Amino acid sequence: MTSRFDHVENRKGTNSMKWDAVDKLYEGEDLWPMWVADMDFSAPPEVIKAIQEEVGRGIFGYPVRSASVDSAVQSWLKKRLSWEVDADELVYTSGVVPAISQIINRFTEPGDKVIIQPPVYYPFFNVVTNQDRQLIENPLVFDGCHYRMDLEHLRSVIDHKTKILLLCSPHNPVGRVWTEEELQKLAEICIEHDLLVISDEIHCDIIFKGHQHIPTATLSEEMKQRTITCMAPSKTFNLAGLQTSYTIISNPALRRKFKNHLSREFLNMFNSIGAVAMEAAYNEGEAWLEEFLSYLQENVQFVKTYIEEHMPKIKVIQPEGTYLLWLDCSDLAMTAQERKKWLTAQAKLALSNGIVFGKEGEPFERMNLACSRDSVKEGLERLKKAYDSLK
Ligand SMILES: Cc1ncc(COP(=O)(O)O)c(C=O)c1O
Repeated sequence: MTSRFDHVENRKGTNSMKWDAVDKLYEGEDLWPMWVADMDFSAPPEVIKAIQEEVGRGIFGYPVRSASVDSAVQSWLKKRLSWEVDADELVYTSGVVPAISQIINRFTEPGDKVIIQPPVYYPFFNVVTNQDRQLIENPLVFDGCHYRMDLEHLRSVIDHKTKILLLCSPHNPVGRVWTEEELQKLAEICIEHDLLVISDEIHCDIIFKGHQHIPTATLSEEMKQRTITCMAPSKTFNLAGLQTSYTIISNPALRRKFKNHLSREFLNMFNSIGAVAMEAAYNEGEAWLEEFLSYLQENVQFVKTYIEEHMPKIKVIQPEGTYLLWLDCSDLAMTAQERKKWLTAQAKLALSNGIVFGKEGEPFERMNLACSRDSVKEGLERLKKAYDSLK
């Protein structure tokens, strides 16, 4: 059966980072891009139509926050996550990483400590160190096929300077969807040590069958009061270029401080087209998302089967969510740098080299599967050719 996701537009020559910057960044030629986290798919037609209508009006002046956008976000959270949020609790931001950066800026002082759990989305490192805060790492524990958080180690690294835990939930790049039990245990420590939790939940809509995303703020009243949740429709509906995101801050004092900070820094404006896209995506994009999720899970299965059959030295870490697949390449016995060169020169393939997610990621590669099955096949065939040449 064919799917709308089998058909993709040619993105080359469209100022796409994924397609047009790849050769330069990876120092190769005609590389097949399965790296940066955006999709090769068009956004849902309902979103495109809403944007076209907005563009048709031809006026792009300053927008004002609208109740209809609030209500689209609220209904989406309720429908998908059973999370009831007041419109007042929403604070719009122009990107999740910029929001995290501003939260750290506002709620810590230089020298304060912020904890991250590598291997993790690489801006988590610089978003802390660029502001002269101390980066504290609590690496995930990997048992050869599964990742978990190291709560004992976490306790041991917290001291009076530790102010924030920056959580990635679901976790990019390892594909974990944290269970309620895991999150509750983590929450206990955060409460005991009075940590503010930034919960980056940008991947929360991309969850596989058998798993459930639990928003950190919904774990308990205490967590609700100490969590700032960062979300966006950008990963879910391929809208990253519109730089539209939001935070959910239930604690009124934290919210007031953050809003005042954004105003003082002149960061309280938002993209009018992004708001239109977000409203349409949340109101009308659910069927598209469900179709995407089925297609994506088939992509994952396809890659697993292919790799198991043809490239047994590479191990697929079973993802529970996200469209990013984490590949354990330890048995190839190459350093991250050697593997990157090999992939570029021999496979003509651009994956995200695991080392960028922290030293724990050294033997891994991350593969973006938000693309057509044909595109997945192309990437795998290129990889196999290089793999076969190793023998
Ligand atoms: C965990 C995580 N947070 C944030 C982002 C980027 O968010 P934004 O483009 O809104 O800054 C990504 C993109 O891949 C991500 O994986």
